[in-house]
Amino acid sequence: MAGAGPQPVDLLVTGIAQLATPRGSTPRTGADLDALQLVDDAAVAVDDGRVVAVGPEAELAPRHAPREVLDAAGGTVVPGFVDAHTHPVFDGTREAEFELRTRGATYVEIAEAGGGILSSVRGVRAASRERLEAGLLQRLDRFLALGTTTVEAKSGYGLTLADEVKCLEAIAAAGARHPVEVVPTFLGAHDFPPEFRDARERYVDLLHDEMLPRVRERGLAEYCDVFTEAHVFDLASSRRLMERARDLGFGVRMHVDQLTALGGAELAAELGAASADHLEFVSDAGIEALARADVVPVLCPLVPLYLRVEREVPARRMVAGGLAPALATDFNPGSCYCQSIPEVLTWAALRLGFTAGEALTAATLNAACSLGRGDRLGSLEPGKDADLVVLDVPDHRFLVYEFGRNPVRAVVKRGRVVHRRGEEAA
Ligand code: NIG
Ligand code: FE
Repeated sequence: MAGAGPQPVDLLVTGIAQLATPRGSTPRTGADLDALQLVDDAAVAVDDGRVVAVGPEAELAPRHAPREVLDAAGGTVVPGFVDAHTHPVFDGTREAEFELRTRGATYVEIAEAGGGILSSVRGVRAASRERLEAGLLQRLDRFLALGTTTVEAKSGYGLTLADEVKCLEAIAAAGARHPVEVVPTFLGAHDFPPEFRDARERYVDLLHDEMLPRVRERGLAEYCDVFTEAHVFDLASSRRLMERARDLGFGVRMHVDQLTALGGAELAAELGAASADHLEFVSDAGIEALARADVVPVLCPLVPLYLRVEREVPARRMVAGGLAPALATDFNPGSCYCQSIPEVLTWAALRLGFTAGEALTAATLNAACSLGRGDRLGSLEPGKDADLVVLDVPDHRFLVYEFGRNPVRAVVKRGRVVHRRGEEAA
């Protein structure tokens, strides 16, 4: 409409020294992984929860009449981080185990002595749903303060139908009350509970016959996951469970080839999984299989660091092989007690050889795609949800260059300013 004057919008983000975003709705690989759109002296116009325009402030400001202005004060704006792999529902921490590892014990030794996942199972079984929800809400506050606007959340420390449902209900309740978007995953196949220690096949039967269908019926999880590993679920039981999950309508995510070279990546490819996670021990054949099946590898570079394992995921070979990696924290009380995507980005650069652009794309657009949300999340483009982070640094490369400090100044989720520094708990 000629002469209509500036367009009224809900929010204009101004004062952005640099806006950095991947583009598109599909997973990025190869040179595209590093191909950010960069706009200096930028602004973002937002209306009805969505991005309306991204561009130079000098062009956007006169064209929009915002009801609210968020001044980025010379900072950098990036898409809200999408953390595609976390285990945030637990009660009680495992700092004593960490100390055992610093003295030389391995993750599997601790697990086989009844610690590890099973110690978190004791905590979750003893906790009420309300208590788990309260703990999760606090953790969601911290995710938000660190710039994460969408988080995948796994159950997996209950290991009975009732305790897993309790965890998934806590996820649903916390997700409904909190600005962070929470994507629920059922991980009943995380370990064998103590009461099935000597009857493992019976627990697989229980998952297959009872737990998976009941969880699905109740609509409590979008995805189903399994810890495919030599000391827990072998390839045959993982295949049986994930085929069942797929048939019931779950999306499939899998912990594979994390501690041993079992061939879990090939299985994830065969099953058409949405993601294959960890992959430190993936083979070249596994990388090829994942590429052919368009499975997103979700890399968790803090975990081997935290477990004191030398082996790194072959991230460069994956990118060369056409895979579109996502980066995640794997936040959990045992193998990574850290919720910070900015920290992950630095370690992805230092340990995996990612550029800042590659790391940012992996923790936004590619992660969103692994959660089936690439059309709506993961980049700042007209029509997408207005999920963005204001960083107090002048250039997106500080995301990898600087670490040990939270650079997040403010967070917008679906067009609402939901966090400003100084308002968080800690
Ligand atoms: O992703 N691999 C299995 N699960 C977690 C560890 C969970 C735990 O130790 O509590 C992981 O590393
Ligand atoms: Fe995990």
